[in-house]
Amino acid sequence: MLRIGMLTSGGDCQALNAAMRGVVKGICSKREDVEIFGFQDGYKGLIYGDFKMLTSKDFSGILTRGGTILGTSRQPFKLMRVPDKDGIDKVEAMKHTYHKLSLNCLVILGGNGTHKTANLLREEGLNVITLPKTIDNDLWGTDMTFGFQSAVDIATDTIDRIHTTATSHSRVFIIEVMGHKVGHVTLHAGIAGGADIILLPEIPYDIDAIAEVIQKRTDVGKAFTILAVAEGAISKEDAKLKKKEYKEKMEKRKYPSIAYELAEQIQAKTDKEVRITVPGHTQRGGSPCPYDRVFSSRVGAKAAELILNEQYGYMVAMINNETVAVPLKEVAGKLKYVDPNCSLIKEAKMLGISFGEKTKKKQEE
Ligand code: F6P
Repeated sequence: MLRIGMLTSGGDCQALNAAMRGVVKGICSKREDVEIFGFQDGYKGLIYGDFKMLTSKDFSGILTRGGTILGTSRQPFKLMRVPDKDGIDKVEAMKHTYHKLSLNCLVILGGNGTHKTANLLREEGLNVITLPKTIDNDLWGTDMTFGFQSAVDIATDTIDRIHTTATSHSRVFIIEVMGHKVGHVTLHAGIAGGADIILLPEIPYDIDAIAEVIQKRTDVGKAFTILAVAEGAISKEDAKLKKKEYKEKMEKRKYPSIAYELAEQIQAKTDKEVRITVPGHTQRGGSPCPYDRVFSSRVGAKAAELILNEQYGYMVAMINNETVAVPLKEVAGKLKYVDPNCSLIKEAKMLGISFGEKTKKKQEE
């Protein structure tokens, strides 16, 4: 008997169900003696032994369904070794559940935090296979994560819709895009949506440079400006602060998010009306786009192959459009940022997109 535990952890995204379906289809096409234990709400289910028995039938008809049939929750890695309110040692509890159910392996779908815990469980001797999910695409060791392309589609659609109203009103529009500490979604949606200015956490911005771009556009008769702003975008002044100082500043900040701070500054520096759009969790909602359906099915099938071969301790990654098993210990704890010198940024600059930096000429003045 092959006994597989499965869980989805961290923020949800599109194609979680599609990926689990891929794993189950892959395994059940080769073996009939399979038991699937679906843990409820991520690691919480594994800690407290909250699971349901599933069959291949439960994974039918879910290819296009958003969210996760298992539910999910955030269980911070830094608290994993901290006992819960009843004094339960979470790591020991997870090991206990795994051994009590005589599992052969755990299939864990998650992003960065999830991978740190998955690696911890591997170090503790459990058989683990992970799949790379997150709209942020910030997992180290894979070119792509599922959820990312779907989120880019939604953020792009938002920018597209803003475009027509922006032109009618001669306003400045800020669209704040999710992505946590990285700017992959914003960069792609910004280019796809034709944003004039893209602000990323990886390239600290200069508010005067932003005002200049808006003014220049006005001077040549382009009365509107669209900014795609990553939720983690940071000014060059704030980027110089120590981590602790920045955190304290953020805690005291009067604005709900970066878009509001920018809007106030832009309004003060230009004579433009500024409007803000925050698509927020819509970027994680709804059906996965076709790319994500294919991608998640592929990594799911590859995970099935690894499990059938009893090769554990890997994340299934996509590198150069090939599914690859990457050792979990190499993935855990590393973030994949946008490289400010990558060709995509260079090409975007060639297209005239500003990243809120002072131009070389201006810096010299
Ligand atoms: O990591 C995915 C993500 O959607 C980030 O882009 C965002 O910063 C965060 O999750 C939001 O988290 P929550 O759903 O817990 O508010």
